[in-house]
Amino acid sequence: PDARVKGIAESIRSIRDFPKPGILFRDVTTLLLNPKAFKDCIDICVERYAESKIDVVAGIEARGFIFGPPIALALGAKFVPVRKAKKLPGEVIGEEYSLEYGTDKIEIHVGAVNPGDRIIVVDDLIATGGTLGAALRLMERVGGEVVECVCVIELPELKGRAKLNGKPLFTVVEFE
Ligand code: PRP
Ligand code: HPA
Repeated sequence: PDARVKGIAESIRSIRDFPKPGILFRDVTTLLLNPKAFKDCIDICVERYAESKIDVVAGIEARGFIFGPPIALALGAKFVPVRKAKKLPGEVIGEEYSLEYGTDKIEIHVGAVNPGDRIIVVDDLIATGGTLGAALRLMERVGGEVVECVCVIELPELKGRAKLNGKPLFTVVEFE
């Protein structure tokens, strides 16, 4: 067990009944207020992929844009923002995923990922896995090789791993 994980877990605030009654919301903004915990979190991810020849760190809007870029810079990889639909100005390729009611869509710019690129897909949290699963399918449709998915927080009760089509997922902390 990594001695740094306890301090990371303790820095994440939990807020009851947000955004809806009955939800216990795990809030990463308090991790960002703790420079030691934030750095430890980034370092753990960078160390894990230091020898993995990663070409692309793909970060999912919005909170994957916080954790992805420092990992990309440390690995010497490209950072590719995976945005919610209709935000990117150039030619895009998108992937839909289902929500409780209806669907949502994420997009990347055409040409941001090259066929054969070795990729890690980064987000702050995996809940049902719908968002990360869609990002993974999008990376594979453009010919990328997803080495692993990475989230700071996993909510294992929601069984999000089952949406990742057998791809490995690395998470720093788990909350029941
Ligand atoms: C949250 C979180 C993940 C996603 C996880 O983002 O940051 O991206 O939900 O949920 P899932 O595993 O059930 O798909 P949200 O959709 O709230 O968007 P935001 O980051 O733009 O607020
Ligand atoms: N925290 C942050 N984002 C989330 C959560 C949570 O607990 N559940 C689903 N998305």
